[in-house]
Amino acid sequence: MQGNKKYQWHKVADDNAALNFLPNGMTELLVGNKTICIALVNDTVFACAQKCPHAGGNLSNGFIDAAGNIVCPLHRYKFSLQNGRNISGEGYYLKTFPVEIRNEGVFIGFEENNGWNWLK
Ligand code: FES
Repeated sequence: MQGNKKYQWHKVADDNAALNFLPNGMTELLVGNKTICIALVNDTVFACAQKCPHAGGNLSNGFIDAAGNIVCPLHRYKFSLQNGRNISGEGYYLKTFPVEIRNEGVFIGFEENNGWNWLK
């Protein structure tokens, strides 16, 4: 899935429990100076942009549907948390970030050389 892309990995918590997920299964996290959305679906952690690519809705205030897609609270567009695909078919793309659970904690990867260099 991650191909040959290079990532900078950022530790965001010691474990899943430390992420303090809200009842909707999501939370916001500040990584560098960027707020992202973290979601817990069937014990798997996903990370994506906090702002909906449609009109900027706060995805962490949305919900997860029965199929595990994230649903925007504003106009209910649905996105795959695995690849950002706009499941409901409006043609948008949600930025997603790889998540790794390691012995040392939960890490989120940002692609190198793609405009995320402010994280360095
Ligand atoms: S802002 Fe998210 S669906 Fe419109």
